[in-house]
Order: sequence, then structure tokens, then C-alpha cells
Amino acid sequence: MSVVVTDCRTEYLTEPLGLDVLQPRLFWKIASDERHVHQSAYRILVSASRDSLSRDVGEMWDSGRLESDQSTHITYEGTALASDTDYFWKVCVWTGKDSSPVWSEPQRWSMGILSRTGWKAQWIGRKADPGLEKQPAPLFRKEIHAAADVKRAMVYVTALGIYQLRVNGEIVSHLFAPGWTDYNKRVQVQAFDVTSKLHQGSNAIGAILGEGWYSGTVGFLHDKVYGERPFLFLQLSVEYTDGTKELFVTDGSWKTADGPIRYSDFIKGELYDATAERTEWDEAGYDDADWQLPDIRPGYNGLLTAAIEPPIRITRTLKPISVRKTETGTYIYDMGQNMVGWTELTVAGERGTKVTLSHAEMLNPDGTLYLENLREAVQQDHYILNGGGEERYEPHFTFHGFRYVELIGYPGEPDLDTIIGKVVHSDTAVAGSLTTSDPMVNKLYSNITWGQRGNFLSVPTDCPQRDERLGWTGDAQIFARAATYNMDVSRFFEKFIGDMIDAQQPSGAFTDVAPDAGWIRHKMWNTRLNWSAPDNAGWGDAGVIIPWTVYLMYGDRRILETHYDAMVRWIEYLISMSDHFVRPAYANYGDWLSIDADTPKDVLATAYFAYSAKVMGLISETLGKTDDKRRFDQCFADISAAFRQAFVDEQGRIHGETQTVYVLALQFGLLTPEQQLQAAAHLAEDIRARGNRLSTGFLGVGYLLPALTDHGHLDLAYTLLLQEEFPSWMYSIKHGATTIWERWDGWTEHNGFQTPSMNSFNHYSLGSVGEWMFRYMAGLEADPEKPGFKHAVIQPHPDGRVTSVQASYDSLYGRHEVRWEVTESGGFLLQVTVPANTTATVHVPGRNVVSEASLTPSYTSGRRTASFQVGSGTWAFTSQLAREQRDGIVIIG
Ligand code: BGC
Repeated sequence: MSVVVTDCRTEYLTEPLGLDVLQPRLFWKIASDERHVHQSAYRILVSASRDSLSRDVGEMWDSGRLESDQSTHITYEGTALASDTDYFWKVCVWTGKDSSPVWSEPQRWSMGILSRTGWKAQWIGRKADPGLEKQPAPLFRKEIHAAADVKRAMVYVTALGIYQLRVNGEIVSHLFAPGWTDYNKRVQVQAFDVTSKLHQGSNAIGAILGEGWYSGTVGFLHDKVYGERPFLFLQLSVEYTDGTKELFVTDGSWKTADGPIRYSDFIKGELYDATAERTEWDEAGYDDADWQLPDIRPGYNGLLTAAIEPPIRITRTLKPISVRKTETGTYIYDMGQNMVGWTELTVAGERGTKVTLSHAEMLNPDGTLYLENLREAVQQDHYILNGGGEERYEPHFTFHGFRYVELIGYPGEPDLDTIIGKVVHSDTAVAGSLTTSDPMVNKLYSNITWGQRGNFLSVPTDCPQRDERLGWTGDAQIFARAATYNMDVSRFFEKFIGDMIDAQQPSGAFTDVAPDAGWIRHKMWNTRLNWSAPDNAGWGDAGVIIPWTVYLMYGDRRILETHYDAMVRWIEYLISMSDHFVRPAYANYGDWLSIDADTPKDVLATAYFAYSAKVMGLISETLGKTDDKRRFDQCFADISAAFRQAFVDEQGRIHGETQTVYVLALQFGLLTPEQQLQAAAHLAEDIRARGNRLSTGFLGVGYLLPALTDHGHLDLAYTLLLQEEFPSWMYSIKHGATTIWERWDGWTEHNGFQTPSMNSFNHYSLGSVGEWMFRYMAGLEADPEKPGFKHAVIQPHPDGRVTSVQASYDSLYGRHEVRWEVTESGGFLLQVTVPANTTATVHVPGRNVVSEASLTPSYTSGRRTASFQVGSGTWAFTSQLAREQRDGIVIIG
């Protein structure tokens, strides 16, 4: 049998650098071409040198042979790890059938700076120019002398602001590092291995600082939220081949100057003056005699923590699909896709010529850029040419959300090669794929992933284009599960939960935006909008729902343990704010952007309160806290009783009678069995009465198709999925959407554009239907008893209107796949793939179920579903589905 140990990871990452968790967790996958492969034992060796590891010595940790099938989240339990040090590990795995062990390849990770006293650098900045309204991005440089050949060089770097780091002229950092946190509390530090970039003798370190979230514009056009101007903090630790060590740090001996970036701001765009470039300023030997000394920040009271968020990168480029000259002599490009990032320009012309790139999501009916929905944001980059040949330009510390680009002031005739779109986001690896027989459904899935791609940028933002781009927690929680199927967001959400905890109020309330930009709430919201409380129903609950989602999808107990107390405080806060377990209608956005259906706010808030308590029951059970479990279960029972008493009448009608009240009550388990039947019927009735249309907003939409599917209305779930009339997902697609719109009525045939004050065409929330597509349509579900897909529950929900589905998901164990097909006569073919070291229960719908491998089924739902237990490998099944005629449609299911 061939078994290979692959994809070894430390803290979810391949060979990470600069960790500061004292007991990192180790992961590996097992690949095999055989069925029923599972790990029976493992042994881990951790060493401080590659050499000793290759001799099978684990002087830091030798776990010994452990009889266990665990291959994820194995906590390091060796000797205490040291600051600024490399470690090497490998694992040996035994599988059930064959007793000969299989070793992984050796892996490395490195520890960062583990104590406050280990930080020796100073924060350096450049004083603002009082004569300028917008400040140039300052350059910093330092020439260092490496006394001997370099054996290891690790740079730890961060900024209050954002930085670009260069070593001997080469960029070594990612984009927009260190990322967004509440800088009053914490800033992330990145570590880069620069061993191969340094040499004996003179070397140059260069950095450019952007304002970023720290001092640039954030949210509704406020700047300097955390500080006046940016600062850089760096230390480079060098070990020479002769065994000596040296530390280089930012301090008063560095030099600073203005550069060609005259300003650069997330919300206001960039001005780059190539005539002000300083050639080779980031190389050794550059004459910096006219540069100034930096300004030293007295200190920083927050925490310096190893970066958790995935690096932000350009992950793909897009070529425009068309260009057209306008009457005013500008050129409008269509990128063919609403994307987030920027455009790179290629241009040749006279020195001093200014070219502008203006970005927008949509076009006005007259073909001009639709800029109104940007509110105060200016998605423009300006480039002043150096002259003398072909020049390339792309901006540095800004990004835009756009499909159309207007090129203004271009010297000559541009063509399709003049600009190229650069797609920028937190680089979370693609985890899922989903293709069906229906091109519109495929387009919907594509739009969902583009919404995520565009908005997962350091934090899950609501939108990438207007003056907002905030980490709205409600949007994040409703989309969290879909997001996990699409991309590996393990660390992205770990970071975001940290932001939520940082923002948690002393009362225990979680906020509706994280990282906290407290000024927004207190200064502006109290006075202008009068939304005062930081605990909005469905938003604050993200503090409980997202960690639970991470646990379900990745089996990550640590996130639950770490934030347990904070989550308990949230529930206690909710209890204190409720009135006999009913949460009153205060501070509540309601079912945000629902369409012609206002869900009463107390119903919605009480439903979410119940759900938070229910999830806390699950979390405390997982952590073995039995008393807490009893307490939270009781709390859930009390809230649901109060909900029924206050809001449900004898016919099972729920106050408000919107789709959302029924959907939430059903999915959160708030009803008696009889009421469930009634509620499901009322829900279906409402949908039909609206001509098979939905009316749910952000909070209801994620549960809508699951509620229909779980409560006997799968056909309606498909009807809503495939509905092309307004309001529906397909309506936007029929009208050219390439991302998920913020509102169902963002643009309609009748009314054109919705109010420009809030009309984003790239908001992922309504894309939470992606969760249903994986969990229900394809039927690929995590089992909370064995989370992280150690055991999967595969239960496809076919309907003849979509005749085939292929879905895959890369869990921490490997690739899970489901393919199904419905033939015209109702024949159902199912093929599933289960990765090694996992198992699955496969529920096959229909009658006459046959398994290719002659597995023995058990039956549920009056023999309508046959269930099989399978180990790893690929398994095929066939069955016969029923054909029914409903509302004039032939439904097979
Ligand atoms: C944001 C939403 C957010 C909402 C809350 C909007 O401005 O774009 O995504 O959840 O406010 O009210």
C-alpha cells in the first residue's frame, strides 16, 4: 500500500516564521491511493537543528510512538522554545493495514520575539510637513555592515501605519502589512527570512511608510483614528557563520526623506510623482547626505504580537475585455469583473505629464462612470511621468473596488495592454470548488467567491469601494460558514476574533464593527445617527458564532478555550439586558436590507439571543464544562419559552410574519414540533404569496434555504435559488452582476440605481447562500462530534432542475468530493471521495439504492434514504428518485 505523509503544517501554515505561541500546533495529511486508510499511531520529533533531525534525534521533543489517529492540532509538548530561533520537525505515521512507518519530509518553523524585553528597536517616523494638506509617504534607509558571512538573518518588522520593506533594493514584505488591528491595543509583527539577501560588507535596508488604517482615512471619511502619522519599528537579527550575532534596529541613526508618493490613502487614492523618484535609495552606497534624521516616538503601550492574519498579496491579474473612447477624449475600460485592487499602467510620454486612473463599479446610463455610490471616497490614482521611455506604475498604499477604469490624460492611443488589473486580498488559499449543470448557479458561486476575495482584506470588510470598508461583525457571521467552504480562513478568522475581543466593551457587549474604531460610534453615531449601543442583534453574536464555526470546520479547540471567558461575558451581558428573557427592540439594525418585510426587532433580537446561548451550550460541552453547559442549555430553554410565549400565536404565526421570523425560529430551534410544522407552512405560504420570491435581509437570508430544506420544502429552496425575477440572486446575474450586491434592489429595471448613499455592488452578505450550496445541495457537512471533517456527513439534496453538482472541499485532512447527477428518468448517481484518516456517513436519497462496493446500508425516512458508513477512498452509489409534478414543474427528488 502506498501511503505518503504530506502538507505538514505548523499553526496551520507551511514553515511559518516568527511565531509567538509557546506551544505551536502541528498538522499533517496522509495521502494514499487505497481505501480505508487511517492512522493508527504517530511519532513526532522536534529538533533545534536540521542535522540532528536527519539523525532522528528530537532533542526538543520526541513524542514517542503514540497510538492515536490524531493528525491535526497536535500541541507541541517539548522543552520550552526560545526567542528568535529555528526549529525543525518531522512526523512518522503508522497506518492501520501496514505496520511499516512512513516519515514526512523535515519541516521548519521559527519563533519570534517572545518577551517585551526582547524588543530593542525604536519607533521612527518623519515629521509632517505643515505646508501640505496631504502628506507624502516617507522613505527610511539605513546602511548596515555585515561583519562576516551570514548564516541566518531574520527581520522582525511592523508599523503604526503600513510599511513596505526592502533589503538591498528588493521588496521583502507583503502588501499593507502589518494589517489592521486596534493599534491602541495591539499591532502585528511580521518576520521575514532575509539570509539570502544579505552579504558580507555593506547592505541597505529601506522602508516606505503609508498611513493605512493608523493615520489614513478609515470608515466614513475620518482620518487619524489611531495616530497622527505613521511610525516604523524593525529589528534585524543576524547570525554569522563564525557563530557571532549582531542586532540592527530602527533608531535615531536612520535617515528619512520624502519620496515620489505624494500621498497615498485607502479611501482617497494616490498621487505618484515619478519626477521625484530617488534612484537606488534602497541600495548600499547611495548618498543620503541631504536626508534628515528621523523623529523618535517615545514608546508604544500596546502589544507587539506575531502576525496571525494571512499576508495580503496580489493573487491574480485581469486583462481588460474592452476599451472605448469617450466624447471628452478619455478612455473607459471594462475589466469584465468587479474586482478589488488596482490597475497597473504602462505609459510613455513627456516628463511631467499627468495620467489619472479613475475606478468605478458601474456605468451610468450615458456610459460615464457611476461614482455616486463611492460617497466621499476618491478611487483615483494619479501618475506624473518621469519621461524618457516606457514607464510602469501601480499604486502602493491604496486599493479600489471597481469593474470600470477611466484613463484620463493618457499621452497617445491606449489599447488593451495599457492597463492590467491586480487583484489584491488576504491570501487565503482556495479551499472549495462547486460546479453544477446550471450556468447561472455557477455564476452565482463565482460571484460569491469574488465577493469574498474582494472583501477579505485584513478584516472581513463590508465593501471595498465607498468610504466605509469596515469589519462589520454581522456581515462576517452570516457569511462565515460559506467563507470556510470557499477558502482557508482558519487564521483569518482567528485574527478577526482577536479584533472582536479587543473591541469587546467592559459590559461584555461585542461591537458591530471590529477592529473598533470607537470614534465612529461615539463621536458620530451617537450624535448623528443615534445608534448608540454596541451590541446589535446578529452583529455582536458574531463573537460566539464565528469561533464555533472555526471549531466545526477546523476542529480548533484552542479558539474556544482562548476566548471562552469573553464569550461567557457576552451571554451574561445579554441576560442582563433582557426582560424576562426577551431582548427588547433597542440598538438593532433588524434584518438589514430585507425587501418589503420588516422583521420586528425584539423578535429578531430574542431569536439571536437564544442562538448565542445555544451555541454557548455546545461550546461549554465541547470544553467539558458541564456546569456551564447545564446553565446555557437552561438559558436557551428559557429564552425559547419566552420567545414562544411573547411572539407565537396558536396557529404558529410568529409576530411580524416575515420570512425571517419563521426562518430564524426554525433554524435556531425555538419552536415546539407542532409549531415547527405550522411555521414551515407559513413560511412556504409567504414565499408563494409573493410569487415564489424571497424577502429576507442579511440575517434571514443565510438560513432561508436551509430552513426550507430541513422542513420539507426542498422544492421551494430550489425555486428561490433559481428565481430570476426581482428580488433574487439570479436577477442581479441576469443584469450583469459579477459579484454579490449589497441590496436586492441595488439596480432594478424600474428604478435604476438605488440611493447612492448606500449602494455597494460588492458586499458578500447575501452570498451566504453559498453555505446551503455546499452543505445541502452538494451535501458536504461537518460533523460536530468529530469536527474539522474528521468525520463528514454527506447528504446530497437533489432536485431535477439542477441535474448535476460537483463540489470539493479541502479540509485539514485532504480533499472531500461529492459528485451527483440526476438522469431524465430520475436515476441518481452519486460519487463521494473521502480523504485518508477520515470517515463519512453517506446518506443516499431515493429507492433501490445500490452501492458499487456492496456496502450494507441502514435506512431512515421510511426507506427513502439509505445510509452508509465509509472509510477513505472513492465510493459510488445509485438510486431511483421520485418524479413529481408540482406547480407545473416536474420535480425529481
Ligand atoms: C454596512 C453593512 C453593515 C450595516 C449595519 C452598512 O453601512 O455596509 O454591511 O452591516 O451598515 O447597519
